[in-house]
Amino acid sequence: MKKIYLDYAATTPVDPRVFSEMTPYFCDNFGNTMSLHSFGQEARMALDKSRGVVADFIGAKPEEIVFTSSATESNNFVLKGIAFANRDRCNHIIISSIEHACIMESANWLESKGFEITRVPVDRHGVVNANDVLKSINKKTILISIMHVNNELGSIQPIAEIGKIAKENNIYFHSDCSQSLGKIPINVNDLNLDMLTASGHKIYGPKGIGILFIKRGVKIDPLLSGGGQEMGLRSSTSNVALAVGFAKACELFNQEEKEKLVELREYLIDSVLLIPGSRLNSPQSGIPGIINFSFSGVEGEAITIRLDMDGIAVSTGSACSSSKLRASHVLLATGMRPEEAHGSLRVSMGRWTTKEEINYFLESLNKNINQLREISPFKK
Ligand SMILES: Cc1ncc(COP(=O)(O)O)c(C=O)c1O
Repeated sequence: MKKIYLDYAATTPVDPRVFSEMTPYFCDNFGNTMSLHSFGQEARMALDKSRGVVADFIGAKPEEIVFTSSATESNNFVLKGIAFANRDRCNHIIISSIEHACIMESANWLESKGFEITRVPVDRHGVVNANDVLKSINKKTILISIMHVNNELGSIQPIAEIGKIAKENNIYFHSDCSQSLGKIPINVNDLNLDMLTASGHKIYGPKGIGILFIKRGVKIDPLLSGGGQEMGLRSSTSNVALAVGFAKACELFNQEEKEKLVELREYLIDSVLLIPGSRLNSPQSGIPGIINFSFSGVEGEAITIRLDMDGIAVSTGSACSSSKLRASHVLLATGMRPEEAHGSLRVSMGRWTTKEEINYFLESLNKNINQLREISPFKK
């Protein structure tokens, strides 16, 4: 059976060019970057070089890049590290209502420890209004954390504008760029960012590595204490192979990929919207690779399972919440009713998606929606 992967927002395959760059760092150049001998020094050089490549990619300085184990870790690090390092002065944090679970849950946890959290709303397209952020600021606000691109809708947030507000009010600004890095050009200075999170496995790099950009001067407590690696901000023996992979993945970014995806997106949207009772949940202005639809009277999970039986991988929402069979907090935040949110499907395309694959998907989608509606107890 044909296998078609349309879940690139959940994770991407490792690009073979990334894989071959990484391989020497498992068995041959395996040294510990903290060792004084040549094995250690070679590993250290590779780590430093990777840090430099990543820093260049986002307009930062090498010493401002901390390698972590994932975007989840980076996001936990930001919220908890900023909250505790600055709690004598301030205790209020602003996030959006559509953040990834790792921000939402970190914020919930901080709230349980006495911090104050404001969750700003989004419009029906899943976009935060910068004015709502401004209105949420109070004298105790220490951090604003708003994701760049939403993982379920692909909606792009007005990050530069929010960053300007944060700067004018002397508040730290962080953005989870897990779904934007490697897809749209990012410069931390243009976006007025103090901190930025990204993940290797969303950009054709390996799993198990993330980055946190921390602008020089930001006061943050580490999550992991120990040997003092990563400029003392994240102790643990450095995973050089994964850092090398992350850097190579950044180097492979190319704008042409986006153009191909824009064409495929238009074709996909036009074709899916021919299905009666279908609706586009993503904004037209979203990033090209993520498209979210709903189909009236059909559960997203049922469609996902049926498509999988035809060899097609899509998702109902974020990979972290899709197994919980709960209506997505992102779609609910856009004002959708729970029953509508249950009918949603996320198609996410990437580097190797072709028009033939989209055609195969459309054929299977049409067939399965018709069949599911035939057997629905709500059939009219
Ligand atoms: C926006 C966003 N933030 C954070 C994460 C978590 O990434 P990781 O798997 O690297 O922890 C994801 C992954 O789904 C994501 O889409």
